[in-house]
Amino acid sequence: MGSADPFDPTRPNVARVWDYWLGGKDNFAVDRELAEKMLALHPASAQMARENRAFLRRAVRYVAARGVEQFIDVGAGLPTALNTHDIAHGVTPGARVAYVDNDPVVIAHGRTLLARSPGVTVVPGDVRDPRAIVTDPELTDLVDLSEPVCVILSAILHFSDAATARDIASVFIDAMAPGSYLIVSVGSGAPREGNRFASAYTAARIHIHSRAEVTTFFADLDLVPPGVAPVRCWQGDDPAPARPPRSASFLGGVGRKPARPV
Ligand SMILES: C[S@@+](CC[C@H](N)C(=O)[O-])C[C@H]1O[C@@H](n2cnc3c(N)ncnc32)[C@H](O)[C@@H]1O
Repeated sequence: MGSADPFDPTRPNVARVWDYWLGGKDNFAVDRELAEKMLALHPASAQMARENRAFLRRAVRYVAARGVEQFIDVGAGLPTALNTHDIAHGVTPGARVAYVDNDPVVIAHGRTLLARSPGVTVVPGDVRDPRAIVTDPELTDLVDLSEPVCVILSAILHFSDAATARDIASVFIDAMAPGSYLIVSVGSGAPREGNRFASAYTAARIHIHSRAEVTTFFADLDLVPPGVAPVRCWQGDDPAPARPPRSASFLGGVGRKPARPV
């Protein structure tokens, strides 16, 4: 799936397949065809995408409620209902949000729809080059990395093997001020099911990370209870009762960078 390729409506694309599953309209016949093919293989895919978005909203609300006013959402995807800035602005109207993606379609749509909102920017960037993201002048114009920030890596680190995903997360963690947060979610499930699911993609390979592996992505951050868990069980400040995990789900967690030892 050509996420980083120039706009090509004849080839399926991660962001547009995801948009279809989330109930959006920014997708083409070729995306819908692949999305349906993947649903036939793995009927829970669309539900998992929606549950992951619901986790992202709970996690952003949780972090914003703790006074963090800057967000970097990497692999943000196409704008959909209740994006990161909508949630953050619901808590702190002046919150600043930088959306980053390597898909030109996402950048173009984002710039049209989101960048009109005050305190929002949309920046092209590749998560596999995290140093370029945290030093991008367009991003650092809006986000001050000497102040607490929340970095969001939602449904993106499963495109990298565990060691690479850990390295990517560590660059963001190093760049964050104490008091910052990291939100991570990845597709999960039994390896055989995950591999079958992945083979429906044309190019993007999905890596199924274990809960223990995802926990290592947070390095020395303090994990917010319950730690890395199926996303439907991660409540944050949400009073809703925990729902039982399914065999295949998304795993997610939120970590806080502690103050430097004195
Ligand atoms: C599955 S969607 C997730 C969207 C959103 N984060 C969410 O959780 O609903 C994955 C997104 O990551 C983007 N993406 C894939 N590979 C990327 C990379 N190497 N660098 C930046 N973005 C990437 C895709 O373009 C797509 O928008």
